[in-house]
Amino acid sequence: MPPGGETSGVPSSNIYEYSMNKTLKQSVLDIASREMGPFYFYDRSVIRENCRSFSSIPYENKLITFASMANASRPFLRTVLEEGFSIFVNSHGHLDIALELGFPGKDIVFTSSGMDEESMTRVAKMGAILNLDSLGQVKVWRSLFPGKPVGIRCNIGDRVEAKKTRGGYFLGRSSRLGLNLEEIEALDDKSSINGLHLYLGTDIIDLEYFQVCYSIVADLASMFPNLEYLDFGGGFGVTTEAGQQFDMDAYGAAVTRIMEEVSKNHGRSIRLILEPGRIIGGESAWFVTRVTDVKQRPEMQFVGVNASTAQFTRPLMYPDDAYHPVTLLSDDRGGSKLLSSIYGCSTYSRDFFSKDLELPPMQKGDLIAFGHAGSYCSSSYTTFLGFAPAVEHYQ
Ligand SMILES: Cc1ncc(COP(=O)(O)O)c(C=O)c1O
Repeated sequence: MPPGGETSGVPSSNIYEYSMNKTLKQSVLDIASREMGPFYFYDRSVIRENCRSFSSIPYENKLITFASMANASRPFLRTVLEEGFSIFVNSHGHLDIALELGFPGKDIVFTSSGMDEESMTRVAKMGAILNLDSLGQVKVWRSLFPGKPVGIRCNIGDRVEAKKTRGGYFLGRSSRLGLNLEEIEALDDKSSINGLHLYLGTDIIDLEYFQVCYSIVADLASMFPNLEYLDFGGGFGVTTEAGQQFDMDAYGAAVTRIMEEVSKNHGRSIRLILEPGRIIGGESAWFVTRVTDVKQRPEMQFVGVNASTAQFTRPLMYPDDAYHPVTLLSDDRGGSKLLSSIYGCSTYSRDFFSKDLELPPMQKGDLIAFGHAGSYCSSSYTTFLGFAPAVEHYQ
């Protein structure tokens, strides 16, 4: 069952089926009685619980970093910091926030692409863990800091059937990211490479894919005598529409086995780094909106709310597969369900939160909350359309 929620029937984005537990619902209603605008509501206990499931992976020598692109709000980041997490950033903006909040510099992971000299120098000076994206980037690094160890991002796509995940392929020939196997082999002075980084893609539930890809990187590790860490990135899926969940226990056991083997082969303990993003907060939050207009048409009930998908962007970015279960927070007035679409209060033709779902007859003033709103939602807010970022509340 999704944290903080109660389900009835098979989850589907086409019906509203997901409701908050009573305590959370009361907190949301209290806020809505004071504030008219749309807002995010986070349940911190879910974030904490998800952090703890990573911290309890049996392999001891590990650094768990939260992927700030999933959520860069300060209260969110403070929560993961309190849970003993470090942070993975891919930009200097997020690096600034991480340093401001007190994440220790030497445990911050910076993985990006197309870095210029200034960017590399800043990361090098603060002693963060850096993964470079290409042979060219390694060359620049070596010219700036001869002999200084650095990590590389690996595209192992030639040895695995790459999975297409949301946002496309992150491995294989259609991915622009990382060094491919030929480039990894061609790299000279392998002794100055201290880490191998991998990112499979996002929202993956299939444990076997993680294991197969990790094992390939574990094989590559033998080429690098001074290896200090393997960074396996993120990609851990949140509960699917069909109710499937990521199996953390099985994952923890599998990654521990792989790391123990690599450490044995190197004759010393190799550090495991992970960069979970989506899974940490995805199910911890709701985006709460208020109905402002209802158009009853013969074929569709159009429900307008006081928010735009510019403030809650996943339905805008992934209109076909962003899954955000809908909860109605107003009293059930009954009435037979109507085929409905919920739209944002702009004139942009694609400003839809949800299409073709079944809702009871709606009225102005009703509250609608969209679930799974804690990852890649507030952090991808866009100024396009001119709406202010939605307020974020944490409990
Ligand atoms: C390099 C890297 N690591 C970690 C993440 C976080 O991924 P996820 O949210 O799927 O766990 C991302 C997301 O794009 C990424 O690019």
